[in-house]
Amino acid sequence: MSDLPRACIVLPCYNEAENIPILMPLIFEQASRIPSHELHVLVVDDNSPDGTADVVRGLQSQYPNLHLILGEKQGLGEAYKRGMAAAIEKLAPEFLFEMDADLQHSPALLPVFVALGEGGFDLVIGSRFVVGGSTPHFSLRRRAMSLFGNFLLRVLGGLPALRDCTSGYRLIRTEVLQRCDLTPLATKGYSFQSSLLFELIRNGAKPIEVPITFPDRTHGDSKLSFSDQLEFLLNIARIRFRKSQEFISFCAVGLSGVLVNLGFFVLFTRALGFSAHAASPIAIELSIISNFILNNAFTFRTRAVTTSLRRRFVQFHLVSGLAGVINFVTMLVLLRFGVWDIFGQLAGIVLGTFINYVLNSLWTWRDVESVQPFAVEKAVTEAQARKRARRPRADSRPLPRGGSGSHHDA
Ligand code: GDD
Ligand code: MN
Repeated sequence: MSDLPRACIVLPCYNEAENIPILMPLIFEQASRIPSHELHVLVVDDNSPDGTADVVRGLQSQYPNLHLILGEKQGLGEAYKRGMAAAIEKLAPEFLFEMDADLQHSPALLPVFVALGEGGFDLVIGSRFVVGGSTPHFSLRRRAMSLFGNFLLRVLGGLPALRDCTSGYRLIRTEVLQRCDLTPLATKGYSFQSSLLFELIRNGAKPIEVPITFPDRTHGDSKLSFSDQLEFLLNIARIRFRKSQEFISFCAVGLSGVLVNLGFFVLFTRALGFSAHAASPIAIELSIISNFILNNAFTFRTRAVTTSLRRRFVQFHLVSGLAGVINFVTMLVLLRFGVWDIFGQLAGIVLGTFINYVLNSLWTWRDVESVQPFAVEKAVTEAQARKRARRPRADSRPLPRGGSGSHHDA
């Protein structure tokens, strides 16, 4: 094996014996267009009755980077979980791919996905619903279902900028995947895809969508069932619940900040003999620091922020500074009106905390969900430029432009 980093396609298969011999050459043909990585394929076959595993075994002498694991059929999500764990253990790849084995996902895009991963994206989504993507053979019913499902996910799950949340063609940076807890995710059906997407975003993945054409199967049948669709709806409710946990966490941190603030205020005024004027700003700064640490470690931990920790700390201070001034002024004003100092400080805290929340949520820990999706062309160009800057001589090859492409999507 070379010492290049690896990229491994996790390929779940159930009754794909006809497709595997067509797909493997198409995949491994792409390896030469991915000079930065060593390409592997790990087939997760659930003892398909059509003998998929034997077909894979037959190809292994020809393709040394083709791996196979077997299991019991427990659903697509379960197959992915097992496959990803096995790939990480065996190969420690930098990138994992999710892909279907039925030729609905064009291998010609593999090099583009890797280039985008190299350019800094943690999650590259082959998207049927961005400009340039399409589902030419979807029945009206399937298209409506898919679009409606995605609409619900985007609105209820709070990811308006992503258009294809259920796509099964993706590149994932392993490091980000390893931050995720896959255990509670839906496993039976296809809702695994959307659960995984939200879990990746929660853990800070920076996503990009690349348009794909999703043509019809020519061999075998789709395994998408009615119960998959039911599970999908139930799963949206679960995703929504996980979202509100972030808000609850913010409130808890805010409350702890109130206690820290008020606690030090009482300590300084009552035990140390400070005046209310002097004690208030000290108490405020101490609560700012503790709030930052807690919000960063818990509340916004899962947000896809792109700014550095130092910058967030500075922004948090600017926001908190403003909130602190509001807190202080409120207290002073109320003090002048003869209000009890503790009540004045408390009123300042409430107002200040509110402003803190709104501004930090929208600015300091600005989530990728409020960011416009990148234009693919621009992102690819930037990725290439960065790559060239990093390795000035070794790799000046331009990104593949689909040159050999005898196997583009129809
Ligand atoms: N090991 C294993 N076990 N593989 C499975 C199982 C399973 O229980 N169920 C499906 N697969 C494999 C199939 O053999 C195929 O390679 C891949 O998973 C996708 O299955 P299809 O049955 O072809 O799915 P589809 O074309 O209807 O659905 C596609 O679009 C969905 C969104 O519309 C897939 O890309 C899904 O991942 C995607 O969510
Ligand atoms: Mn399919």
